[in-house]
Amino acid sequence: MTNLTPILTKFWDDPQSWTLETYRRNDGWKAFDKALKMEPAALVQMTKDSGLRGRGGAGFPTGMKWGFLPPPDGGPRYLVVNADESEPGTCKDIPLMMAAPQFLIEGVAITSYAIGCNHAFIYLRGEVVHVYRRLLRAVEEAYAAGLLGKNIMGSGFDLEVTVHAGAGAYICGEETALLDSLEGRRGQPRLKPPFPAVAGLYARPTVVNNVESIASVPPILLHGADWFADMGTEKSQGFGIFSLSGHVKNPGQYEAPLGITLRELLDMAGGMRDPQKKLKFWTPGGSSTPLFTDEHLDVPLDFESVGAAGSMLGTRALQIFDETTCVVRAVDRWTEFYKHESCGKCTPCREGTWWLKQITGRLENGQGSEEDLEKLLDICDNILGRAFCALGDGATSPITSSIQYFREEYIAHLTNGGCPFDRDASSLFAKDNVPA
Ligand SMILES: Cc1cc2nc3c(=O)[nH]c(=O)nc-3n(C[C@H](O)[C@H](O)[C@H](O)COP(=O)(O)O)c2cc1C
Ligand code: SF4
Repeated sequence: MTNLTPILTKFWDDPQSWTLETYRRNDGWKAFDKALKMEPAALVQMTKDSGLRGRGGAGFPTGMKWGFLPPPDGGPRYLVVNADESEPGTCKDIPLMMAAPQFLIEGVAITSYAIGCNHAFIYLRGEVVHVYRRLLRAVEEAYAAGLLGKNIMGSGFDLEVTVHAGAGAYICGEETALLDSLEGRRGQPRLKPPFPAVAGLYARPTVVNNVESIASVPPILLHGADWFADMGTEKSQGFGIFSLSGHVKNPGQYEAPLGITLRELLDMAGGMRDPQKKLKFWTPGGSSTPLFTDEHLDVPLDFESVGAAGSMLGTRALQIFDETTCVVRAVDRWTEFYKHESCGKCTPCREGTWWLKQITGRLENGQGSEEDLEKLLDICDNILGRAFCALGDGATSPITSSIQYFREEYIAHLTNGGCPFDRDASSLFAKDNVPA
């Protein structure tokens, strides 16, 4: 049995968890103190040694990313924190910034020092105005305490932090679209190379990292790279926040070593919301990751094992659906999301997601034919690997995986002349499905 490892979530229950005072009571800002006495290169090495991999989805080694910046040339270098969190099901960065924003601010200060950045940006999803206010206040508190600004604690290190609220577009979470948006342009992905490390924000060397990646840096520095590397699995080290949502008794954030299984997490979360109802399907890492079923309850939730089982760890957004859920309907809803959020830059995704939605919609309504399933798979095949960015690939995941596991349910819609499920009972939001 794997235990939880509450580190970033340790004091979320504290009545004033978001204040600098609470953070300091929990060893907050001690790591930054330590960092200022170290050489920046040693901090990059420590992050490499810890094995920390990006928590934004792709799992790229964080220290290695910092190491890609070219040597300083006297011009500005930037850290941009990706706080756009918009993937359906993903809900870890927003609660983290709401409950304990100082983790992120201290992580920003340490990372900026490590990479030689004097102006860092936090690009936040625009809809979460309450988080925007909380972050602004947290940054203000850090300035007032002399932890940000000019010549911090007499070290000679200067750091300005800007919190920027986006306008609510999923594509602005893609790191280069985010940079375009931050520069004031329409958010659309950039052609790579050049990669942001070479020419990022304002064409200057830039590190883009996820909120949880950066927030993990202070505990790593405080406790040591080995402490972090000893948790998790051989190639997926450390801990992460697993977000359980849907048909589960106690949904929420569970911080645990990578490699924990859904069976273990479900045990901790009190099991399925209705114990009489079987687990039907789930996403290991948000809606862009291929679906799993109850056959996958014991797959270790680390990058390698989830990949070997045919999906992706993504953002550890575990959306749980019981047998009352119509998979065709769920896939249709996700497909509508991708169609809506496609930025339109490339043809396979712009046109493909529109056609996918037409077909999933008519299948859910019992119209169309069995050939539509082959058409769906064919369109997915024309998007996967041919789209300009990973949004297009992500749009195909729920479709191909649901046809793989639940083809007969699609067919049942056709033979039934409509959805065979009781729509109200199958909805997560139906009145009699919401726990008292
Ligand atoms: C459509 C799309 C949306 C994304 N949204 C986010 C997001 O909200 N937050 C995030 O950290 N990464 C997101 N990413 C991944 C980023 O492009 C990038 O890989 C990540 O910010 C790197 O940080 P990390 O190395 O710390 O994980 C998204 C990617 C795509 C293609
Ligand atoms: S894959 Fe979709 S979101 Fe990405 S660039 Fe192409 S149209 Fe835009």
